[in-house]
Amino acid sequence: MSNPSLLILPGDGIGPEVMAEVRKIIDWFGAKRGLTFDVSEDLVGGCAYDKHGTPLHDDTMAKAQEVDAVLLGAVGGPQYDKLDFSVKPERGLLRLRKEMDLYANLRPAQCFDALADFSSLKKDVVAGLDIMIIRELTSGVYFGEPRGIIKEGNERVGINTQRYTESEIARVARSAFEMARKRGNKVCSMEKANVMESGILWRDVVQEIHDAEYPDVELSHMYADAGAMQLTRWPKQFDVIVTDNLFGDLLSDLAAMLTGSLGMLPSASLGAPMANGRPKALYEPVHGSAPDIAGTGKANPCACILSFAMALRYSFDRGDEADRLEKAVNDVLGQGIRTADLLNVEGATPATTSEMGDAVIAALDASL
Ligand code: IPM
Ligand code: MG
Repeated sequence: MSNPSLLILPGDGIGPEVMAEVRKIIDWFGAKRGLTFDVSEDLVGGCAYDKHGTPLHDDTMAKAQEVDAVLLGAVGGPQYDKLDFSVKPERGLLRLRKEMDLYANLRPAQCFDALADFSSLKKDVVAGLDIMIIRELTSGVYFGEPRGIIKEGNERVGINTQRYTESEIARVARSAFEMARKRGNKVCSMEKANVMESGILWRDVVQEIHDAEYPDVELSHMYADAGAMQLTRWPKQFDVIVTDNLFGDLLSDLAAMLTGSLGMLPSASLGAPMANGRPKALYEPVHGSAPDIAGTGKANPCACILSFAMALRYSFDRGDEADRLEKAVNDVLGQGIRTADLLNVEGATPATTSEMGDAVIAALDASL
């Protein structure tokens, strides 16, 4: 049997730096655990635009469709701010999500024991936190038509459309209920049914899928604004949160900070199963390209490393090895080895990106 294939798209800003650490981890699993991947690498985002005049070349898109999983770093940077909207770096990422039909975006917010003191919230609010946000990723206001900036009389009007079909809601609701059954068996669905018709439909469909197929799972509904408030008030009330594309974008950044740093949060974007039974999949850290620290060795590679752990779990059915990698990251943090984003002690010397990667490798070695 051939090795599973990975397409690596480091992207822009700190993307290549954090991905270099993931390459070390991938090599470690090949050398020490007999888990060898066929790895190829390509461009996405601003760097792809610089080379090809498009943030995602058709050949890269085709490759992404063929591999077992895609690992992405980050896209974007200030030098691309003035580009036409259609070729902005972010369009490359959105094209991958849309054409691979990666409708379920899993964003776990777990508070590592060693970081409970580091969150801006009180320790007892976040210690032991383990929630999973499932964000719908291929529809809603990100993709709805009509969209654009039009002229109305003598002023411009900006238009975006929030649009959800029943089947789009139903499939992501199923992902959430399935996930809940493997965890705390609770789903909270968030929308704005008080002001949006799409929210009313969202609530109805989630409830229908629940009643027909998952009556054993505890389901609640919350307006997304109240959900944001509850997430900061007492986040441990949640197990799985399912929400739309835009609310999920906001709520997952909020949830990330509960855990201490955006530099810790991985994500998995999953679609329908392919012929080999594996889901279409793209793994990426939730943080962006952080152009302000790119090239300085300050970036935290953990979110990207933990995204690879999610790949082991969700694409390659190696939850055991994913646990090993997650534990290695936790051990390193416990040893006090931290990148600058996780240090608030005066005078402490932060680990560089590559020192952090090396420390994770050492912890992996120690796990054998
Ligand atoms: C995210 C990011 C993206 C999004 C950007 C880079 C297009 O913020 O993955 O959360 O808005 O979805
Ligand atoms: Mg975001």
